[in-house]
Amino acid sequence: MKDRRKRDVVSWSRFFWCTLFVVSSCVLYTGFSFSTFRLLLGDKFHPEKIVSAWRPPALQAISGDSQMNSATISIRETVILPDQVLIFLKYPQSARLFTKEDLDCVYFAAGKSSSSSQPQFKQPPNQIDGADLDDQIIRCPLNPRGFLVALALKSGGYIKPGPIHRWDSLVYEAMIDRDNTTIVFVKGLNLRPDRLYNASRFECVYGWDLRRPKFLLRSNVISIAQEIVRCRTPFSILNNPQKVNNSIKVSVRLKGRGTLHSIARPALQLNRDSDPTARKPYEMCICTMLRNQARFLGEWVMYHAQIGVQRWFIYDNNSEDNIDSVIASLVDNNFNISKHVWPWIKTQEAGLAHCALRARSSCKWVGFIDVDEYFHLPTGLNLHDVLRNQSESSSSDVAELRVSCHSFGPSGLEHMPEQGLTVGYTCRMMVPERHKSIVNPEALNSTLINVVHHFHLRDGFRYVNADRGVLVINHYKYQVWEVFKEKFYRRVATYVADWQDEQNVGSKDRVPGLGTRAVEPPDWGSRFCEVTDTGLRDRVLGNFRNPITKLLPWQEDGGILDVQNMGLSRL
Ligand SMILES: *[C@@H]1O[C@H](CO)[C@@H](O)[C@H](O)[C@H]1NC(C)=O
Ligand SMILES: *[C@@H]1O[C@H](CO)[C@@H](O)[C@H](O)[C@H]1NC(C)=O
Ligand SMILES: *[C@@H]1O[C@H](CO)[C@@H](O)[C@H](O)[C@H]1NC(C)=O
Ligand SMILES: *[C@@H]1O[C@H](CO)[C@@H](O)[C@H](O)[C@H]1NC(C)=O
Ligand SMILES: *[C@@H]1O[C@H](CO)[C@@H](O)[C@H](O)[C@H]1NC(C)=O
Ligand SMILES: *[C@@H]1O[C@H](CO)[C@@H](O)[C@H](O)[C@H]1NC(C)=O
Ligand SMILES: *[C@@H]1O[C@H](CO)[C@@H](O)[C@H](O)[C@H]1NC(C)=O
Repeated sequence: MKDRRKRDVVSWSRFFWCTLFVVSSCVLYTGFSFSTFRLLLGDKFHPEKIVSAWRPPALQAISGDSQMNSATISIRETVILPDQVLIFLKYPQSARLFTKEDLDCVYFAAGKSSSSSQPQFKQPPNQIDGADLDDQIIRCPLNPRGFLVALALKSGGYIKPGPIHRWDSLVYEAMIDRDNTTIVFVKGLNLRPDRLYNASRFECVYGWDLRRPKFLLRSNVISIAQEIVRCRTPFSILNNPQKVNNSIKVSVRLKGRGTLHSIARPALQLNRDSDPTARKPYEMCICTMLRNQARFLGEWVMYHAQIGVQRWFIYDNNSEDNIDSVIASLVDNNFNISKHVWPWIKTQEAGLAHCALRARSSCKWVGFIDVDEYFHLPTGLNLHDVLRNQSESSSSDVAELRVSCHSFGPSGLEHMPEQGLTVGYTCRMMVPERHKSIVNPEALNSTLINVVHHFHLRDGFRYVNADRGVLVINHYKYQVWEVFKEKFYRRVATYVADWQDEQNVGSKDRVPGLGTRAVEPPDWGSRFCEVTDTGLRDRVLGNFRNPITKLLPWQEDGGILDVQNMGLSRL
């Protein structure tokens, strides 16, 4: 208690009034100077280089338009990714959300005199994510060198730009855990994987405007590993009304150095699930990360529902396909699926940790697989049978089940199989390439270290390898060329082991003999084919096919219901 008060270096009321002052002066300060962005972590990133002579052209333009209420809508943050720009909007309480039809991305020449500061060109947004006033992201095409991006309303007027950040030096997410600590997800500390760092060399920093060192609250770091930081949350932040606390950001600094840029507001993501021993509504859930793979979701979800998966958490890495409508139609058919926007680069391990925490309150077990991976139970048991066997046997210290993955090849096909992956691909490599895990989220080590899909468990818990005769994963890794080649252009989460580039050099995820060119090898169709394995195909055809139409549920829209009606049964 004593320590706690000491660490809150600014008293709450002073913090509140000072910050209120800062916020109101910012609001009044329409002159908007970018020199204020010469902030925080100067070392690697000098925003003034990009924005040097930006005069505020856009800013006087915004006003008037009462219909859209644009005067009070602003850009909260702008984050530059390698291939696009994320713009986070800030809406007033009563606003209606913009859609793609309302907005254009507009580009201004940086460094021109104010007289020429009309937008040079505009582009439609790539995508708009999020249906929440507090959490909507507009994705704009990348600004060419020398240009800045802002938003324009088609009905007239521009939206004020906000602070600009680079993706690779940024605190991008945070959440408050049930022990009241804050978990902070960071890019740019350049910590090595799989290793615990000395927490006392770092500190967490909280405030509305992290550029104002005088008005910040500091707190101790409890653990730091793999760019996930756990901090003690200042008392005053835990105890103040949502209105006040949900716009407070958190960041991290190495003591003696600058503070990282941040867009992370911890109070928006409370993970205060109750009692760890409470009964979980779901036996088995899945966390996955994907990009532009909506067309594979139907089969993957319906199949897994049948073998016992009850809840899906989908982390979407900037998809541009129809993922929202695919998820919506699955949800309409009573599959419990939620999408979480996860636009961040090389953060797969962090995303899985984030997902495990969110799943903890409702899921006894969580599997971490990609959408081209299918659990297969050759003996016909379902996942609950296997998991219950784990938790009920004498060894209740088992908190992770490792499942081997068989890599399937194109199996002689030339086009995507109409009946789905499970039926179409039947030839694979002999030896399993790696494994994926199913974990009990209550048993994760609080550092949340995980490397290539394996979490560190708390002391006293252990893993077992699943018997391959009982449970394996069919990984449709090398599909027909039209599908596989996409992995070349976009090295998506399902393909790159991720977290740090070096890990992938010589990784099993690189395809032997393909080099770096996306040209179909003449023998592609017959590659990676060592043994015929029709186990899953036979099971699916035997159990899922509509006896009248002979179609599988994922081949027909109306069929989705049939799967639900079958309930959870042994295949
Ligand atoms: C977390 O903080 C809230 C608000 O201060 C408090 O009511 C609660 O008891 C705290 N929980 C724990 C586990 O410390
Ligand atoms: C951690 O860092 C602190 C301060 O830099 C230092 O005093 C302490 O000895 C370090 N602890 C370890 C275990 O290295
Ligand atoms: C913010 O305040 C609300 C009360 O208005 C509280 O319920 C919430 O837990 C607070 N946020 C955090 C992070 O504690
Ligand atoms: C989906 O699962 C969550 C728990 O993760 C639960 O709170 C929610 O009520 C479920 N939704 C439906 C429609 O069952
Ligand atoms: C159940 O557990 C036992 C030992 O714990 C193991 O030998 C057996 O293979 C398991 N059965 C299934 C179906 O997982
Ligand atoms: C978490 O892991 C670290 C080292 O990796 C270990 O020292 C610590 O005891 C573990 N924590 C718990 C609660 O088991
Ligand atoms: C998301 O996709 C981009 C582009 O393909 C990739 O660089 C990035 O690492 C992916 N993110 C994750 C978390 O895998």
